[in-house]
Amino acid sequence: MPMNRRKLVGANWKMNGSLEANAKWLKEFAADPPKCETVVFPPFVYLPQVVAGLVGGVAAGGQNLSQHAPGAYTGEVAGEMLVEIGCHWVIVGHSERRARFNEVDLMVAAKARRALDLGLRPIVCVGETLAERQAGKTLEVVSRQVASVLSVCSVAELGQLAVAYEPRWAIGTGHAATPDEAQEVHKAIRAQLSAADQTAAGQVRVIYGGSVTKENAGDLFAEPDIDGGLIGGASLDARLFRAICAAAE
Ligand code: PGA
Repeated sequence: MPMNRRKLVGANWKMNGSLEANAKWLKEFAADPPKCETVVFPPFVYLPQVVAGLVGGVAAGGQNLSQHAPGAYTGEVAGEMLVEIGCHWVIVGHSERRARFNEVDLMVAAKARRALDLGLRPIVCVGETLAERQAGKTLEVVSRQVASVLSVCSVAELGQLAVAYEPRWAIGTGHAATPDEAQEVHKAIRAQLSAADQTAAGQVRVIYGGSVTKENAGDLFAEPDIDGGLIGGASLDARLFRAICAAAE
């Protein structure tokens, strides 16, 4: 039985933005706040500006956090700091972190664990490379990534998580997964969560990321196991991002 999950849409700005551009974005976005659950993930330094500029229940989140408690970790940002500055969510294990900053499953799981300990809701990113897809290994890779996070959280905590299925070949390429391709993986993720706990699995939002646009968002979000999206490139323009949120309302 599909549960009535509220759609969740995130704006992952990655390493983009400036005080001036953000102010313009926030002003445009505040004119018509979306009705779906919405989270904006700016670079760390802009979080205070974004937290202050969001209205209508739109939340802010960090793009990453340290797996460590505050201390001697030059260049890192602790979850405590994200909480203090007003974040409710944090992205963990984005494929750019996995591929370019050597984040392995164990580290991603440790970061998710740390977020949960602090009451920050993690969006755990999973997804296969093109080579893995072509080798027929998509479900195997994704299930390994999901399992590593499940191994560190309790059934009671499951509802705090969201999972973002982001096939690496679709990120920033303009080549999104088709609704069918995405649904197949989302359904498998849901089944894996259900094996841990069926009721909790029904509450976890499994969102899709990878070249989502205002043109393809409606078809993707209409799939039974696609509960929203994590939007990169198209989130940098407030109006385009608002149009994608509209597809989730
Ligand atoms: P994209 O990025 O929308 O630019 O493909 C998505 C993501 O990396 O979260």
